[in-house]
Amino acid sequence: MNENEQKIIASVVHEVKEKLKDQESGHDWFHVLRVWNNARLMAKGEEVDLFVVELAAILHDIADWKFYDGDESVGPKAARLIMESHHVDSSVIEHVCEVIATMSYKGAGVPTSMRTKEGEVVQDADRLDALGAIGIARAFSYGGHKNRVMYDPAHLPVLHQDKYAYISNKGSTINHFYEKLLLLKDRMNTQTGKQVAEERHLFMQKYLEQFYQEWNGTQ
Ligand code: ADP
Ligand code: NI
Repeated sequence: MNENEQKIIASVVHEVKEKLKDQESGHDWFHVLRVWNNARLMAKGEEVDLFVVELAAILHDIADWKFYDGDESVGPKAARLIMESHHVDSSVIEHVCEVIATMSYKGAGVPTSMRTKEGEVVQDADRLDALGAIGIARAFSYGGHKNRVMYDPAHLPVLHQDKYAYISNKGSTINHFYEKLLLLKDRMNTQTGKQVAEERHLFMQKYLEQFYQEWNGTQ
């Protein structure tokens, strides 16, 4: 990245930090920081435009469609305004907006493949943060925020076939593991992403075993 691009990144970071300061802790600035770090790490093994990757990582959750009744245009619009105010080239703006508009998980049966390598890297970076110890913490944080029960053995997970069914679902947080988190390892794009996802997947499976043992009073 050149000096001008680095300056733009620094001022966009400043703006995003301010905007996300009151967010639920699973989608706050620290989530964005982890995704940004993951993205830089994964970009090392790939031939990508780092400026696009970093901007998309930093701006990806500026306005999450789940919090706007499934309207996927809100996030890219907000990201576009910020990039325009920093005089980012229009070709970069288009690419970053496309990545942000298409990267999100929308249910087990909804394909979310990315058109470009940059998109694949940022999607993986975001998905890694949904897995492992942090992924578990984020899921329960989100569940608490939405007043969901932790677990209800009477209600089985649902493999959603469209995004409205996915976002209107009010199931338990444990169900979310089966509806999204445990499905992610087979939907990763990059080599590094696949490897890390595999480890975090095993950790979540162990966590679930322990959870059920404690729930059933067998340990
Ligand atoms: P993506 O960035 O793939 O679109 P989301 O923003 O949908 O991911 O979700 C980010 C995180 O929020 C999830 O990985 C999970 O931790 C949490 N989350 C989202 N939906 C639910 C849910 N129904 N129950 C529990 N946690 C959820
Ligand atoms: Ni995210």
